[in-house]
Formats: sequence, C-alpha cells, structure tokens
Amino acid sequence: MAALGFSAGNRTVLAEIDDSETASSFVAGFCNYHLRLTRGTLSGLLNPHYFAKGFLAKGVAIKGVAMEYRFLGKSGLQVSALSFGAWVTFQDQLDVDKAYQCMKTAFDAGVNFFDNAEVYAGGMAETIMGQVLKKAGWRRSDLVISTKIFWGGTPQGPGQPVKSGPNDRGLSRKHIIEGIDAALARLDLDYVDLIYCHRPDIDTPIEETVWAMNQVVQQGKALYWGTSEWSAAQIRRAYDIARREHLIPPTMEQPQYNMFSRDRVESEFAPLYDEIGLGTTIWSPLASGILTGKYNDGIPEGSRLSLKNYQWLRPELESEAGKAKVAKVKKLMPVAQELGCTMAQLAIAWCLTNDDVSTVITGASSPAQITENMAALKIAELLTPDVQERIEDILDNRPQGEQNWRGM
Ligand SMILES: NC(=O)c1ccc[n+]([C@@H]2O[C@H](COP(=O)([O-])OP(=O)(O)OC[C@H]3O[C@@H](n4cnc5c(N)ncnc54)[C@H](OP(=O)(O)O)[C@@H]3O)[C@@H](O)[C@H]2O)c1
Repeated sequence: MAALGFSAGNRTVLAEIDDSETASSFVAGFCNYHLRLTRGTLSGLLNPHYFAKGFLAKGVAIKGVAMEYRFLGKSGLQVSALSFGAWVTFQDQLDVDKAYQCMKTAFDAGVNFFDNAEVYAGGMAETIMGQVLKKAGWRRSDLVISTKIFWGGTPQGPGQPVKSGPNDRGLSRKHIIEGIDAALARLDLDYVDLIYCHRPDIDTPIEETVWAMNQVVQQGKALYWGTSEWSAAQIRRAYDIARREHLIPPTMEQPQYNMFSRDRVESEFAPLYDEIGLGTTIWSPLASGILTGKYNDGIPEGSRLSLKNYQWLRPELESEAGKAKVAKVKKLMPVAQELGCTMAQLAIAWCLTNDDVSTVITGASSPAQITENMAALKIAELLTPDVQERIEDILDNRPQGEQNWRGM
C-alpha cells in the first residue's frame, strides 16, 4: 500500500494505491490530466470532481476514498474537504473514549480540521477534544484546530458551572482576550489554528473586534481569524478596517450551508470570494440530520431531535417549513438510490461540489456515521450536471443572484 499525493490547480488529492501497477496508472492518469490542463484545452477539468472521475473512468482503483485538501480562501492553509465538529455530540452523546473513536475514524480518513467553540457543552467539548488529542498523540502540524468566541465557556475550569457575567460574552476586547486564554486552557493547546467570532456583536464596534483579533493572532494564540454567521456587509467592513489599519484581515466565514439553506453562500457572499479571498467552513450539511431521511417518519429514539437539551430544534422539522423539507427529502431519496448511495452521502456530496466551500464540517454521533459520511467524497464525482439539474428541480430553491438588466 502506498500513499500518493498530487496537486493540481488549487487542490491536492491524496490516494492510497494498493500495488505498483495501479500506482503507475494513477501517475499516468495524473500526467495525462496535467498535460491537457497545461495545454489549456480542458480547463473545465480543474474541477476536482471531474479530475478524480478521469482516473476512475480509466479503471484506476483508488483504495478507500482519497481525501481532498482545499485552500482556506486565499490563505496558504489547506483544510480537508470534509472535516469534523463537536457541536451537540461531545459531552451530551460522546464521552472522551467515544469522541476518540470518532476523531480517529475521521483522522484516519484524512480529516485534518476539527471544529469547536467555547460555548459547546459549556466548554466541555473543548476539554474532551483536548483529552482526545493528548491520547491520540497526532503531530500538531497535521491538525487544524478551531474554536469560536462569543457566548463564553467555563472561565473557572472544566467541570465548573458556567457563570455568565456581563463580560463573559460578546466580542469586546476583554472577552476575546480572556475567552481565547480560557479556550486554550481547556483544549490544553498553545494555539488554535482558526479562531472565529461566533456571531456578530451589535454592541461592540467592529473596530474593537478587529483590533482584538489582530492581537490574538499577533500573539500566536491563533493563526487565522474569521467570522460565523456574519452578513457580507459586516465581513466587508471588518476586512476594510483591517486593510486601513494594516491589521490582519478575516480569512474565513463559517455559515450554515446545505440543500435547504443556500442564499448566503451562493448569493450574498459571492463577491467576497474574489474580492477579499474569503474561505468558507460550512456547518450542518445534513440540517441536523433531516437530510439523512431519518426523520421521514417521525423522531427516532436517540437521534439529535429526541435529545432533551435540543428540543428547540424540533420546529425545524415540525413546522410547515419543516414538513416541506421532509417532503423534498422523500423525493431526493430515489436519486440517492440510483447513485448507489445513502441520502446523507448525497447531501454531503452536494455541498462538496460547490467550489466556494473550503470544507464541509460534518457532525456525527458514532464512528459508523463518519465512515458513511466520508464516502460522500466518491459520490461527489457522480453529481454530473444532469444529476444536479434533477436535484435543483426537487429543491426548487436556487438563489437568484443579481439581475442583469442589460438583457431586458
Ligand atoms: N458556527 C456555527 O454557528 C455552527 C452551528 C452548528 C454547527 N457548527 C459546526 O458544524 C458541525 C456540524 O454541524 P452539525 O452537527 O449540525 O452537522 P449535520 O451534518 O447537519 O448533523 C450531524 C448530525 O446528524 C446525524 N447524522 C450524521 N451523519 C449521519 C448518518 N450518516 N446517518 C444518520 N444520521 C447522521 C447525527 O445526529 P444523531 O445521530 O444524534 O441523530 C449527527 O450528529 C458542528 O459539530 C459544529 O462544529 C457550527
């Protein structure tokens, strides 16, 4: 078994090859692809999905699924196209041992980015992730670890009740500086790779937040900073302030993105990808599980929507809008069946086909779900324009984008 890696365009593909003959076909396939690219005749093949498909069409067997690494916006950092996050699951469903099994399954599949936040399980999700990292002993340089600051964690230490004073939340300089120190203590790390402003804070001037984030990065406590669920206008304002003041600008945004929630990523943020080189680390690709089809006939015992602390998610399913979503999932399931995949794999693969998505942050309550979800990388190769059009017809929610009035 040999591991091979190639870069093309802004993508890197790694594959495990089982024998030398297959390895030489893989190399030949890559060279052929690269030659065609450099001649500029098939620039459409820059899309990594066609790239991988080219090899498959040649009958080259790639063992397992090759993880793909994408640049985080215009930064030099590469994140695995599929990543893994700790929301809901760490502490409420997964203790340290189970979290270790999940993170190991993800890591073994090539995942390098693990997402967290100070508020997840009141700080315990960071504590558990820190313990898993200790136990696993992976090289720090093989990992991209994040946290997010806004609602506070447990400044007093793991296991302590969350006490929330007026300065334990928001994006003031005080909470950002104290929040990152508390998060690093829980994670037992010297630095996180990514730090996010978990929401916009309308009570704090963006200038104050930009200066504080710049300070955190300059101090080496985080390597890149970004935002989560900020509007395009707020991100642009932060970027412009950073440029004006010669500070480090935001690199990435963490928005919700899935088959039901598309407007921000596909329409509102569109100018920012080129203009400021924004990367996106998207969340809830399965809409908390609705896109697996598991809620088609009610709420199964032990599923996320059955959990006591997450009853507030139930309107996502039980409202009229929720029922319309389930109806769409039922129509999408035959498409998944024809492609030979599960509904979860189809929904994750669909997110992967968007080139403006740097990484799809998956969530899972078991290693088996992770194994299933990682195989979505292979399914993304099957989403041809025809299949995509069928999906569009069912979803019927394509963002319109800007009107071109010249054609009127
Ligand atoms: N920035 C933000 O504001 C924000 C917000 C939310 C999430 N996030 C990040 O994004 C990550 C992913 O979000 P998410 O957990 O909501 O993702 P998701 O993919 O929408 O939902 C994951 C949940 O769906 C179920 N599931 C996953 N794979 C499955 C499969 N193959 N078959 C059946 N059920 C499956 C599991 O729940 P059950 O098994 O319990 O049903 C799992 O925990 C989070 O961990 C967090 O890091 C960020």
